[in-house]
Amino acid sequence: MTILNFGSVNIDHVYRVEHLVRPGETIASSDYRQFSGGKGFNQSIALARAGATVSHAGRIGADGVWLREQLAADGADVRFLEVIDSPSGHAIIQVDSAGENSIILFGGANRTFTPEDARAVLANFGPGDWLLLQNEISAMPEILRLAGERGLRIVFNPAPMGPEVLGYPLDGVSIFVLNEVEGEAFTGAREAEAILAGMRQRFPEATVVLTLGAQGAIYDDGSQRIAVPAAKVEVVDTTAAGDTFIGYFLAGLAAGHAPQTALESATQAAALCVTRPGAAPSIPRRAEIDG
Ligand code: RIB
Repeated sequence: MTILNFGSVNIDHVYRVEHLVRPGETIASSDYRQFSGGKGFNQSIALARAGATVSHAGRIGADGVWLREQLAADGADVRFLEVIDSPSGHAIIQVDSAGENSIILFGGANRTFTPEDARAVLANFGPGDWLLLQNEISAMPEILRLAGERGLRIVFNPAPMGPEVLGYPLDGVSIFVLNEVEGEAFTGAREAEAILAGMRQRFPEATVVLTLGAQGAIYDDGSQRIAVPAAKVEVVDTTAAGDTFIGYFLAGLAAGHAPQTALESATQAAALCVTRPGAAPSIPRRAEIDG
């Protein structure tokens, strides 16, 4: 069984600032670094480091070949990660003194997928395989539709959330992993309980995992509710914490672990991730979690 992650690959430009810049304000940054990132890329790295079999489908430009090499070095299948004639996607990220971030995305190569491209990739996968999707690439409705037709188990992380997501064909999604902002966009509710109730009403068959940052996460599959607290750590940079959580959680489920076990290693991995700077480079390896 393979987890096909059809997702973004970004070059992250990360600026350390005292506070996130306000409208009309100009501020100086104390540090600038470039990291590998992209929600798709980070989740593939987390899956691979957690021990899952992952195939990443995506697109980069010639400026992003080093990202492909990184992914392959971590053991992911990169046959469907194409180098095309377009700049790679990138992100401008501010990280403040509390480790919180704000992100501007430039889609670049991530946004060149057409329905035909989606069909060509998905032809290589079928029943038994899983599809993991975020919302940073083009052709999302077609990918969701085709994956459902081909019998893949679909896991959707609706990030970044936008109004277009509400129009996607989401009835075939088996697992949603979302935060409170994304949950509010689906349900209109702000409290965790109300978000979970709203998601259950809207997607009665789906499992929902609601991530709550420093408060941990709640899992609800309709018959089982599990709440897992987050470990208390010194936060350096929260970038990719959610991606780390998703990769470790899915790797656990794919390995046949109980949801509780998968959630526990996911929260441990996310807690370690926030103690380090950057996106993909901050994602821990399995030995660091179990050890
Ligand atoms: O989730 C973090 C990621 O969001 C960053 O790596 C950035 O590239 C954006 O996609």
